[in-house]
Order: sequence, then C-alpha cells, then structure tokens
Amino acid sequence: QMIRPFRAETERYGHYSVAGESVWEHPFLWGSKRTGPDLARVGGRYSDDWHRAHLINPRDVVPESNMPSFPWLETNVLSGELTGKKLALFRDHFGVPYTDADIQGASEAVKGKTELDALVAYLQSLGHALK
Ligand code: HEM
Repeated sequence: QMIRPFRAETERYGHYSVAGESVWEHPFLWGSKRTGPDLARVGGRYSDDWHRAHLINPRDVVPESNMPSFPWLETNVLSGELTGKKLALFRDHFGVPYTDADIQGASEAVKGKTELDALVAYLQSLGHALK
C-alpha cells in the first residue's frame, strides 16, 4: 500500500509515496486502508530468499505474522504467451516506455519463471523509481 505523509511513518518506511513513482501503474495502486506494512519502499530491504520464504509461509520468517500463505506462487509457471502483448498494450495505450526489443524479448525473458519469481522481482523494484 502507498501511505500518506505522517512523521512516524516516514521514520519507519522512508519517504512517503509521491505521484511520479506510480506514473506507469494502470490501474494505480494507491489505497486508503492498511492491512500489512507499507510496501512502497520494500525493494532491497530483504533478500530474494527472504521474500520467497515469506510469501510461501510468512510464519517461517515472522513467527507472529498473520499474513496469509501464498504457496501456489512457487508452482505456477508463467506461460509467457501474452507477456509481449501486455507490454505492447501498456506502451500503446498508457505510454509506458517499453522498447520494441522489450516486447519482442518478453516471452523469452519470462521463460521458465514462476509467479513467485515475478512477484519477488516486483517487490524488489518498489521504491526505486525515483532517485
Ligand atoms: C500477494 C500479496 C501480498 C504481498 C506481496 C505481501 C508482501 C509483504 C511483505 C513484503 C511484507 C514485509 C514488509 C516489511 O517487513 O516491511 C509483508 C508483511 C505483512 N503482510 Fe503481507 N503481503 C501480501 C498480502 C497480505 C495480506 C492479504 C495480508 C493480510 C490479510 C498481509 C498482511 C501482512 C502483515 C500483517 C505483515 C507484517 C507481518 C509480516 O512481516 O509477515 N499481507 N507482506
């Protein structure tokens, strides 16, 4: 979730979310309710292995966690069939700056990857859109 500015929040999570960071999000993901911690700057805070363990069973790394387990992410393999089409759609309708090479290479780039690989890569990117 992306969180509005409160001093205690910036001390815990880093700079509050600014609009420019979400410019390529369609639909945008800003909300007004918090269920877990602010993830807007979680990228780089934990290792990929920590995220994998945490998503498969949060209690393996955070014993008191009430977050649900998402074990199927590890076994759902991406087909990659529509990945290039999705990138082209985001470029052509929303102006996301994917290149022709990104679009042509999309299926190959996700070949053999699981939903868990994809989600961890996304989480590790959060908070790095602005320098
Ligand atoms: C696919 C969806 C989800 C993802 C990717 C996700 C990801 C994460 C991550 C990365 C953290 C660690 C944040 C930090 O330590 O700063 C976290 C913590 C937490 N999440 Fe989630 N979460 C998801 C779904 C949920 C749901 C559905 C709930 C509650 C119903 C939830 C509740 C929590 C809680 C309470 C914590 C703090 C305890 C802990 O570290 O496990 N999460 N989540």
